[in-house]
Amino acid sequence: MKLAYALVVSLGAAFALRAEGGRPPRPITEAEVKAGKPLYLRECSACHGERGDGAGPAAAFVDPKPRNFLQKQFKFRTTPSGEAPTTADVLRTIERGLPGSAMPAFSFLPESERKQIAAYVLNLADLIDDGEPAAIADPGVAPPATPETVAHGKELYATQGCLNCHGVLGKGDGPAAKSLADDDGHPIPVRDFTTGVFRGGSDRKDLYYRFTVGMTGTPMPSFTDGPDADRWALVDYVLTLRVPLAVKPLPQDPIKAGREITARYSCRGCHVLDNGKGGAVGPDLRISGAKLSTDWVRAFVQAPREAGKIYPWRVWRMPHLGVTAEEAEALGRYLAAMGHRQPGPASLPDLAAVKPAILEEGQLFFTLKCAQCHALGKLIETPLAAQQGPDLIHVAGRVDYGFARKWILDPKKVDPQSRMTVPGLTPAQVEAVQAFVWKASLAAGSGAAAAK
Ligand code: HEC
Ligand code: HEC
Ligand code: HEC
Ligand code: HEC
Repeated sequence: MKLAYALVVSLGAAFALRAEGGRPPRPITEAEVKAGKPLYLRECSACHGERGDGAGPAAAFVDPKPRNFLQKQFKFRTTPSGEAPTTADVLRTIERGLPGSAMPAFSFLPESERKQIAAYVLNLADLIDDGEPAAIADPGVAPPATPETVAHGKELYATQGCLNCHGVLGKGDGPAAKSLADDDGHPIPVRDFTTGVFRGGSDRKDLYYRFTVGMTGTPMPSFTDGPDADRWALVDYVLTLRVPLAVKPLPQDPIKAGREITARYSCRGCHVLDNGKGGAVGPDLRISGAKLSTDWVRAFVQAPREAGKIYPWRVWRMPHLGVTAEEAEALGRYLAAMGHRQPGPASLPDLAAVKPAILEEGQLFFTLKCAQCHALGKLIETPLAAQQGPDLIHVAGRVDYGFARKWILDPKKVDPQSRMTVPGLTPAQVEAVQAFVWKASLAAGSGAAAAK
């Protein structure tokens, strides 16, 4: 298949040719596949792997596992059982994410970028040459649910065998549930309907598609017998099985509350957390906890893309996860607890006491020892390609001054994984360089955030 694709590409005809089997081509251009690659590496490869094999560095720490695209199995489709997904199916998954799994919603990316990424994923799965598969007939607008449709759905739920797997009350504990495995032979839990969380979306139409076409690669069958009204009736019944949870307040203990929230968002896939376990996609949050202002953490986890890229050497960026203000508050306390500090703003130096000669000395050291890796806003510009550490112009509102002193003296002692190397500075030299950097950062407005 790859060969045919290469041929099409080399003819420069994009995908405008009629694909195999007389299907129309996918609405994807060669340029979109190409543009999708760097976006895929930045946004998706942490979980799905550079090659699309589902073995990215976050995969070990998330459950269910990220999809291996090379196996061409897609669960969330509008196409008949056994078919590939439509291009719109893949786009929908990217836009909405898969609630109840680690897969975030990427609605924060522009639509054109999501389309490029979808094109790249379909190319990784080698599903472009075969053309665009046809979706099943659109079921239209869901008819209104009535007590009669719910009662009919309940009957079908039993006669069609849903309860064998999903259980009488929909808890995912039917008699067949324990022995189920996916196509790779891994045990697979049956969906618990009482939570009301559905990976493929919880609109009535989403559910209609899920059990009409089934979920490829899993024991979840497709249910196409009988009239459409039967499927809508099943939707209505399944939705009544949800048991609204009493809203439980977060635990008082900051570590326990943090564990609860980080489990909700699969933070461990990308970060080492309090027990020392987690992926190395983003920084070890125990060290971040010791380093960062609580205000900064709170703002960042709610809007991680607003500050621009922090660590230039990392391939990945932090996705927008939809963390609420209350959760952000608790995450701020969690990081502080992990870093063994009081939650609050970053500590600041007493710059009034610093003599001008010390600042000049600091500037000299910065130029000689730090500027090769760190920019300082517009004051000291380092070419982006050479930057390894964060731009230090934001440091005062972000990094604890006391933490930074220990860090600059010996970064490897604080974090053995650190990429920062500084040939030994004396404590006085560190103080001078810090005074210079913090003064510049405060003057650039970073202090406003710190003082809040
Ligand atoms: C934090 C981890 C994570 C990231 C980042 C991530 N995914 Fe996923 N993705 C998952 C997991 C886990 C699943 C499997 C869920 C399941 O099996 O129900 C998945 C499944 C999928 C699927 C399969 C849908 C189907 O129909 O079966 C697609 C397509 C997908 N992801 C695309 C992407 C794309 C594109 C990106 C980047 C824009 C991305 N993912 C980023 C974790 C992630
Ligand atoms: C052989 C066992 C089995 C039977 C029978 C079965 N299911 Fe499932 N179902 C599953 C499994 C396993 C999953 C979870 C798949 C996954 O996580 O990828 C699932 C998932 C689902 C989902 C969740 C979709 C989502 O987006 O999260 C719905 C809805 C569903 N089933 C409805 C039904 C209905 C309705 C019936 C009867 C017509 C039925 N199932 C019959 C095993 C079964
Ligand atoms: C898909 C991977 C991924 C997930 C999931 C993720 N992060 Fe991140 N996170 C990153 C990356 C990558 C960075 C570095 C961003 C940069 O350089 O711009 C980061 C940075 C951070 C930072 C800044 C740390 C520092 O020292 O500068 C904090 C705090 C953070 N993440 C918290 C969280 C929390 C809390 C969660 C869960 C609610 C979470 N992250 C989920 C990838 C992720
Ligand atoms: C060889 C490159 C390199 C040099 C030289 C270097 N750093 Fe760094 N620095 C880094 C990297 C990379 C990080 C990010 C943490 C990590 O990945 O280890 C960092 C992090 C920092 C931080 C934390 C910033 C934040 O926002 O998280 C401070 C403060 C810092 N460096 C100060 C300095 C100072 C002052 C000097 C000069 C005395 C210096 N660095 C020299 C690479 C370097």
